[in-house]
Amino acid sequence: MEYFTQQFPSPEQVAADIAEHGYAVYPNAVQPEVMEELRQFWFPYFQNDFPKKHVVRGDLLMGSENFNSYTDSSFWCLYRDFEFLWNSTKHALTRDVTVAIHQFRNQIQNFDPDYGLKFSPDCYGVYISTSHYPPARGHLQTHTDGHKDVPILHYMLPISIQGQDYQSGGMIVIDKSGKAIDVDAQVELGSLVFFDGRMQHGVTPITPLAGKTLGRVATFAIPTFFVPQRDIPDVIRRSKYAIERGLSITKRGLSLLQGKPRQDSPKDGYY
Ligand SMILES: [Fe+2]
Repeated sequence: MEYFTQQFPSPEQVAADIAEHGYAVYPNAVQPEVMEELRQFWFPYFQNDFPKKHVVRGDLLMGSENFNSYTDSSFWCLYRDFEFLWNSTKHALTRDVTVAIHQFRNQIQNFDPDYGLKFSPDCYGVYISTSHYPPARGHLQTHTDGHKDVPILHYMLPISIQGQDYQSGGMIVIDKSGKAIDVDAQVELGSLVFFDGRMQHGVTPITPLAGKTLGRVATFAIPTFFVPQRDIPDVIRRSKYAIERGLSITKRGLSLLQGKPRQDSPKDGYY
């Protein structure tokens, strides 16, 4: 499937627009059938999947499982799905499109096309973050993003649209004159947004649209430096095995107390 249209910008165009304005919106960049399939997957996903963790920011461990998350605080209120490229994908088209846009971003920044997609000692990589801001309470305070010496050029692929899926609110960037720009007001289905992570940006409260219950959904591939296993003290890494062993011994003890034969066997080498 062709993901992108003839209107997809050139890397030189995006680099020039970001240098001048700090952000840019490119309409009709992604094929309508791609966007339709993303909507068909993510809308029910966020209506049905119960998050198991609080949203995290930074300190993502190399080798983590995928997870969905939810947080409601003064800083932000959103559901956020994390997918890591070493795991199997929950939606192949989302992964393929977000990784393709990440490779395009590498071209804009004059990086190796596969930067962030291969293992490296500094643990630099991308993960797929799909966020859902529910109506009435979804928001994200303005902030900047940055790490080490690599400037973060963010992209965002909006999956739900202001005026169509929610009334108002959504992504803003603060421009060089200090004015808040309503980016979501410039977006239609198939638009692709780039912005410099060093600019102040955030999400203003999402106001609902009559008859629409979901709110705001968008996906990104976010560059980060993952926390390597070598930074986790052995005592914590090994605690997983200690806990599993403890549970196994407890189960064995209960079986003995109850006069039952053991159901488990020491097949895993923890004994
Ligand atoms: Fe951010």
